[in-house]
Amino acid sequence: MRFFGFGAVFIIGAMSIQAAVVLAAGKGTRMNSRVPKVLHRICGKSMIGLIVDAVSDAGLGVPLVVVPSDSHSIQNDLGENVSYATQDLPVGTGQALLEAKQSLDGVDNIVVLYGDMPLVSSETLNKMIKIHIDNQACITLLTSEVENPDGFGRIIRDNSGKIQEIIEDIEADEHTLSINEVNGGVYCFQSSWLWANLDNLAPSKYGERYLTDLISTAYDQSMMIDSIQVSNPIEILGVNTRKQLLTAQNELRQLILNRLMLSGVTLVDDASVYVDYDVSIGADTILHPNTHVTGTSQIGERCDIGPNSVVTNSIVGDKSKVSASFVEGSVLEEGTHVGPFSHIRPGTHLEEGVYVGNFAEVNRSRLGVGTKMGHYSYVGDADVGVNVNIGAGTVTCNFDGNEKHTTTIGNDVFIGSGSMLVAPVTIGDRSSTGAGSVVTKDVPPDTQVLGVPAKGFSKKDGNR
Ligand code: UD1
Ligand code: MG
Repeated sequence: MRFFGFGAVFIIGAMSIQAAVVLAAGKGTRMNSRVPKVLHRICGKSMIGLIVDAVSDAGLGVPLVVVPSDSHSIQNDLGENVSYATQDLPVGTGQALLEAKQSLDGVDNIVVLYGDMPLVSSETLNKMIKIHIDNQACITLLTSEVENPDGFGRIIRDNSGKIQEIIEDIEADEHTLSINEVNGGVYCFQSSWLWANLDNLAPSKYGERYLTDLISTAYDQSMMIDSIQVSNPIEILGVNTRKQLLTAQNELRQLILNRLMLSGVTLVDDASVYVDYDVSIGADTILHPNTHVTGTSQIGERCDIGPNSVVTNSIVGDKSKVSASFVEGSVLEEGTHVGPFSHIRPGTHLEEGVYVGNFAEVNRSRLGVGTKMGHYSYVGDADVGVNVNIGAGTVTCNFDGNEKHTTTIGNDVFIGSGSMLVAPVTIGDRSSTGAGSVVTKDVPPDTQVLGVPAKGFSKKDGNR
């Protein structure tokens, strides 16, 4: 791979230098959204993010993305790895590609995609560029026969079957509208021809320069226009509306669930399980109904997740169970148990074998190996040691109205039911608190405290 200019450029074979461009500077008016269209998410990932992945999986390197001038949100989403060109005014796909020209000096063939076709596969892109180069076409198009061609540009072929023109939906007469072969929105261009002709595109009656008008230009010059058809039209679904966004999401969701089942995950009810694109789940894990595993979560093997659970951006170790609970931004080690009806909040680390039962909340805290917190408790900003028992109704009083404070609990501690641990406070190893204690001062190791405020005496003295 070789980088120059702003674009990442990829060499296939000895002779040809390729680059991919994704057009993402349109207004996306039909979404009725403040969010740029290409940033709408399906299965947890932006449409443009999915396309960038497909491009790099196809061996085309990282694409050059054409963005509007106020594009910080797109750049935040895609990060630094992708290079950018700017289209100040969204005056058509042809104009958008022209903005990429100066970044693509020296490239032989250019693959152009639209930023609103999230389901295009890397296999299709790879196949297309190979055919384009092998056949030395001037343009290679991706087309498909679809049942409902509404919104797509129609492929017009001449009497000998050669592609002659693309007519946009809004410009089509009744006969053209009845054509089912549509323009998928991926093109391979021979660069020298592209740059010699792109400047000359005339604006449509709506004032936009259509990239698709290059097809009739090439045809009139008797240049070779090749095409491949995708067998599954879903690959070319262009998302222009919220309805199409939902269609794309449903398709991707099914692909993800199928992939999981093939790899050994059991779904009790695929209609009510939602798993994001970047999630991984180990074999023999069971996902019960109404379960959402989202973000970048990694679930181990032989886990039971759900029913009625949400696990987001979390790591869950093998043989763990999350039942009717929320787990967010946390790490649960092997053999942990959460729920039912509990909330594990961001920054929490449950070590091996931790048991969190009903109606418990853990926030920004570590619970050490084997610790148990069975019922109705809140633990926040706490560092809890190993084999601690946290009795029913325990609360770490971590907030004084202005600041959060830390509670530190040593190993083998017994916290009696209804204890209030007023932070900052430390409970030493092997100590215990009596039921209903309000602990306002540090408790040394091997000490029992009782009462309100709690007073202590050494267990070693045998005074109980
Ligand atoms: C486009 C094609 C149509 C094809 C369909 C496939 C044209 C003229 N039409 O129609 O033939 O069947 O996609 O989905 O190309 N964009 C810019 N700058 C602009 C305008 C658009 O970067 O000035 C970007 C958009 O962000 C979008 C992509 O180009 O990602 C396509 O634009 P869109 O408005 O969605 O075109 P369609 O009407 O869907
Ligand atoms: Mg579109």
